[in-house]
Order: sequence, then structure tokens, then C-alpha cells
Amino acid sequence: MTASSGRHFLQIPGPTNVPDRVLRALAQPTIDHRGPEFADLALDVLRRIKPVFGTSGPVVIYPSSGTGAWEAALVNTLSPGDRVLAFETGHFATLWRDMAESLGLVVDFVPGDWRHGVDPAVVAERLAADEQHGIAAVMVVHNETSTGVTSRVPEIRAAIDDAGHPALLLVDTISSLGSIDYRHDEWGVDVTVSCSQKGLMLPPGLGFNAISAKALAAAERARLPRSYWNWAPHLEANESGSFPYTPPTNLLFGLREALALLETEGLPQVFARHDRHAAATRAAVRGWGLEVVCADEREHSSSLTAVLLPEGHDADAVRKTILDRFDMSLGAGLGKLAGRVFRIGHLGDLNDLTLAGTLAGVHMGLELAGVPVDPAGLPAALEVLRG
Ligand SMILES: Cc1ncc(COP(=O)(O)O)c(C=O)c1O
Repeated sequence: MTASSGRHFLQIPGPTNVPDRVLRALAQPTIDHRGPEFADLALDVLRRIKPVFGTSGPVVIYPSSGTGAWEAALVNTLSPGDRVLAFETGHFATLWRDMAESLGLVVDFVPGDWRHGVDPAVVAERLAADEQHGIAAVMVVHNETSTGVTSRVPEIRAAIDDAGHPALLLVDTISSLGSIDYRHDEWGVDVTVSCSQKGLMLPPGLGFNAISAKALAAAERARLPRSYWNWAPHLEANESGSFPYTPPTNLLFGLREALALLETEGLPQVFARHDRHAAATRAAVRGWGLEVVCADEREHSSSLTAVLLPEGHDADAVRKTILDRFDMSLGAGLGKLAGRVFRIGHLGDLNDLTLAGTLAGVHMGLELAGVPVDPAGLPAALEVLRG
């Protein structure tokens, strides 16, 4: 029986639930994107998005998914045949590698087990070995959405600096921005890639690049073909609050509202809330007697938890049971983890009881699907929430 009353529980790790205030903002009549009202809107969101990235530099906004913002980061900074260093932390790191190769870059892809983040020691080793400085960029997925593992960007930056290597640092924050502490300027990131449908609590449709001065200088030399993704016309048009092509006006109305929500709660409180919800979720998973995919205590994601099922159990069957019986969507296992893992999204517009309801649904769904679970899991999560 499919539950049809109440709200659907969208507990995938993005797109996330869009708050009512943001939905109402999205529903405003579309305005003239060449008029003064639009310029005020654009200048406002272009300014107020900066603290979310932890930057005082420019942030370019594209009408795109995150994949477009990935491409923008590469084509604006690199040239055909450039070497880049990337790490197999999971499905999204692998897709970004594939994109880099398809654009004509040569990728050194460090293999990984999909349970750990980027190892800063390996970054140090690879860059120290590159005495001729042939590696043009290091590509890192901050929060690997397929595994629930968060790489330690400040340590990666320190490894690049210790090696005295000039490579650019390109970081994907698609499932961490606005959920997990992130500091583009302080951590010395050159291009931060993100998009709208996760921590920013918006529907899909906006892609972002935050750009360092070093990346802007690299863009002068970069020779990969670029047109739609070219930063330069954006940066010029943005000065006066316009875009080089028709902007996603209503998504920008939504962005203004979402930024107001983040400002009201305060970013440190937003991050603390995500940390707490992640800790409660891990308490449930471990209490049930199940395993979290992330294998390093320092790298647990605060925006999602990937749960490994015991041999002989199908994670997709569990998800189907939960969807059919409790009207809740959970994330599927991706790539190598398909069928073995399901993912609980706990990012964006979420409170303690949303999480408690989510975990209760997971608990019941596991039982109904025949996965043996210890009843101590749910109370362990509630204990964290009570604390
Ligand atoms: C870490 C990460 N990178 C990139 C992407 C691709 O983004 P999109 O599907 O919006 O193109 C996703 C999508 O979930 C993601 O989680």
C-alpha cells in the first residue's frame, strides 16, 4: 500500500526538500531580466552567496546542473593535454575523471576503495615526484555523495604547499556546500564547484564556480575550447547585475530566499546541525548492527550516510519496501556499490523530528525486508538527538 497522505519523505542526498518559503519565492511572476529589478536581485545574490563559499572573490552562477559546473572548472583553467591528478574516492570522482579525459586532459587517477577520502600523503608523494611541475591541477571531490566520505581539504592544500607545487586545486562541493564547513579562501582552493539542489535547498538548475585570483590568471592561458562555460562574459556582465545569456530568474528568487534562511540560522549553526544529525544517523546504523561505508572516523560525511547491507541482502529491495510502505525515498548504491548500499540523506531543510521519522522508516523497512536489525539502533539515535 502506498501512503498518499502527508508529505513524501525525500531523504536522498540531493535533490533535497525545498522549504515552503523558497517554494513561494520560486512561484513569483518572472521579471524582465534586462530591467532594474533583475539587476538588484542578481547583485544581491552574487554578493550574498560569497560567504557560503567562504570567499571574497567572484562566484559565477550558471543555469546548469553540477556537471556543467564541473566542466566550467576544467575548461576555464586547463589546456588540451594538461596532466591532472584525481582520486578514485567513489562514483562522482570517477565521473569527473571521465569528463576530464573526454575533454582531452591526461588524468593520473589514484585508485581507491570507495571507503576513504583523498589521502593527503598520496597527494604529497605524487606532487613531490612531479619535479618538472607537469601536473596542472589536483581534482578533489570534497564530499563523495556515493560513499558518505568527506575528504580533508585543508590537509590536501598543506600537502600541495609542502611539495612547493604550483598545481591548481579544484574542489567539488556539490553535496557539502551549505551543509559542511567549507572555506574557499582560507583553504586556498582555486575553483570550487557546486550546485543548487543539495545544501542550498533549491531545486536543481543552478551551477556555481567560486574562483581564486590564481584561477583567474590561469584562465588567461587556458586553451580548452569554451563558450557557454566561459567565465569572462559572466564576470563582466555580473558587474552590472546582468548575465551573458537569459538567466534562471525564478531560481535566483529562490536562491535569495535560501540565502536568507542560511543567514538567519547562521552557517556555524547550520554545520553543527548537520554534524549532529549525521552522528545520530551513525548511532542508529551501528546500533542496528550494520556498517557505515566510511571507514575513517575523520572522514564521516555530515550530509549523508551510506549503509552497507550484510551479504545476501539487496539494498534496492529495502529501498523499494520503504518507498512502497512509508513513502520515503532513499539514495541508491551507485557504481560499484549498486545493490549493496543505500544512502540516507540528512542535509538541507531538516530538523530533529524529520530525522527521527526518517530513521524510524529505515528501521521498519529493514525489518520488513528481512534484514536482521538490533532494536537498539533507533533509541541510540534518539539519545543523540535528545543530547
Ligand atoms: C559530488 C557530486 N558531484 C557531481 C554531481 C553531479 O551533479 P549533477 O547531477 O547536478 O550534474 C553530483 C550529483 O549528485 C554529486 O553528488
